[in-house]
Amino acid sequence: MATAEYDDVRIDDVQELEREIASQRDANVPIEMETRDISVWFAKRKVLEGVSIAFPKQSVTALIGPSGCGKSTFIRTLNRLHELIPGAALAGEVLYEGSDIYAPEVDPVHIRLKIGMVFQKPNPFPSMTIRGNVLSGLKLSGMKRSNHDDIVEQTLTSAGLWNEVKDRLNAAAGDLSGGQQQRLVIARALAVNPHVLLMDEPCSALDPGSTLKIEETIRELSKEITIIIVTHNMQQAVRVADNTAFFLATDGNPGHVVEQGPTTEIFGNPRDQRTLDYVNGRFG
Ligand SMILES: Nc1ncnc2c1ncn2[C@@H]1O[C@H](COP(=O)(O)OP(=O)(O)OP(=O)(O)O)[C@@H](O)[C@H]1O
Ligand SMILES: [Mg+2]
Repeated sequence: MATAEYDDVRIDDVQELEREIASQRDANVPIEMETRDISVWFAKRKVLEGVSIAFPKQSVTALIGPSGCGKSTFIRTLNRLHELIPGAALAGEVLYEGSDIYAPEVDPVHIRLKIGMVFQKPNPFPSMTIRGNVLSGLKLSGMKRSNHDDIVEQTLTSAGLWNEVKDRLNAAAGDLSGGQQQRLVIARALAVNPHVLLMDEPCSALDPGSTLKIEETIRELSKEITIIIVTHNMQQAVRVADNTAFFLATDGNPGHVVEQGPTTEIFGNPRDQRTLDYVNGRFG
């Protein structure tokens, strides 16, 4: 292949150097979780193929793509909720702190404590108190952490809810608004000290004000933990995510990652035309 030459500097060499610098930069960022070549089936139907994504520690990664492309399916593989679905199968590896979470000796309950999850629809125990909800994960898991008052205050503060509920911790969780309930379940997830928080469209049922509060919470939390969030809201991905992965499933083929990288690249300078079209709202 012909290469342009300017004095003694060849474009090839410059590109090689850039690649080397990029790989060194990557090597310096510790990876919290990583998937390698994940494929998923429901019964005989393959719905995901060859998904490999690295999630750096204390970063936010957004998973985007049209409905049905496998985002929820993928995020459920990351804390072994996938295996609870009848007929679900999986190939590939999910590494957490370098070890495969599906290895035979690994306890899925332990994994789900380290890798927490928040769902689309807030799911507190409605008749239980606010305080009781925050501590419920701890109790259910049999985890011993002393000083419950501190845990309640710290986690509700981290979830951005403390000021709104500190005077009514013994009120029923069902009395809170949808946005407050979603922040309450984030606090509940934090009480067991997870290292990773998975969020599947956590704001899709919320008004813009509550959505912004949750986004602030996500940015704050990512100073301590690693966050992976599914969203249909492109502005949200831009606002909260360091990295973005774009999933697509076309013509009955399994979903796969078309493109991934820093959010600024995916939205500002994507390499694939389909990414450009999707992030500009031309389909999906
Ligand atoms: N429990 C299940 N049993 C069988 N098929 C399923 C199951 N859950 C999901 N699927 C199929 O897997 C594919 C991916 O679904 P998934 O819910 O992961 O998509 P998604 O990207 O999260 O979509 P949305 O944006 O609408 O939430 C779809 O074709 C769906 O029909
Ligand atoms: Mg989904």
